[in-house]
Amino acid sequence: MRIGIIGAGQMARALGGGWAAAGHEIALGARTSARADEAVAVIGHGARATTITDAARFGDVTLLAVPVDALAEVLAAANSANATGVDAADGTDGRHALAGRTLIDCTNAFAPDSGGFTLSEPAVAERIAATAPGARVVKAFNLLAAEVWAGQHREFEGRPLTVPLCGDDPNAMATVAALATDLKLHPVHAGGLVQARYLEATSAFVVGLWFAGHDARAMFPPLESAFAAADQADGLPGIRE
Ligand SMILES: NC(=O)c1ccc[n+]([C@@H]2O[C@H](COP(=O)([O-])OP(=O)(O)OC[C@H]3O[C@@H](n4cnc5c(N)ncnc54)[C@H](OP(=O)(O)O)[C@@H]3O)[C@@H](O)[C@H]2O)c1
Repeated sequence: MRIGIIGAGQMARALGGGWAAAGHEIALGARTSARADEAVAVIGHGARATTITDAARFGDVTLLAVPVDALAEVLAAANSANATGVDAADGTDGRHALAGRTLIDCTNAFAPDSGGFTLSEPAVAERIAATAPGARVVKAFNLLAAEVWAGQHREFEGRPLTVPLCGDDPNAMATVAALATDLKLHPVHAGGLVQARYLEATSAFVVGLWFAGHDARAMFPPLESAFAAADQADGLPGIRE
């Protein structure tokens, strides 16, 4: 599969490296050619450096791997008319350059707060979908650190490392699920794009717990124990006075 990556930092390298190793064709665009060159040298496997505009038009799939406060600028650059790469005609027909493509949003709008993290905005994936009409946005890979995605551990305590995906387009969801599987991860359909805001909030909350030194995983029992006992009085599972 052809994957365009926008951004040259940790997430671009972690996810791009895994997908390149799995045999996908990668074109990575950054705001400077030096940074793009640096990133593709790390990714290897024939990944090539290009511009943001061309990376946006390159793939069946595009990964947005930039800070949230850069998104407006990056989405405008993605849609600018000076593409030189393959499929450069796309996006010049009045549609956004990302229209029709699967667009993976791995961003987190973390804002530091005294007690952990808050969000600088409540629904980034929905904003991306509104800014790039027709793009098939899937929220994914925002929950864990780049080092985890780049690492080898794919099972903890006998449970497969699971990636929640939120999006509205079934084909795009299937595509991202396959890309998660290529990274030896277990994808789970976690709802439509309207649920992405909860995935974004969950990330801020859980990462805040981890930063505070708490074991967030210990707060979640396995599925079979999630509802310990049904409360016969009110029918709500596991809720008692
Ligand atoms: N790192 C993680 O563990 C992690 C985990 C989950 C989610 N995320 C999210 O993933 C996204 C990327 O994070 P990251 O860790 O990969 O960040 P990073 O290492 O700081 O890389 C960010 C990339 O975005 C580029 N960029 C910044 N401002 C830009 C602008 N105005 N126009 C064009 N490009 C711009 C940077 O360009 P330069 O190369 O020129 O500096 C850099 O290549 C963020 O939204 C983050 O919240 C990160």
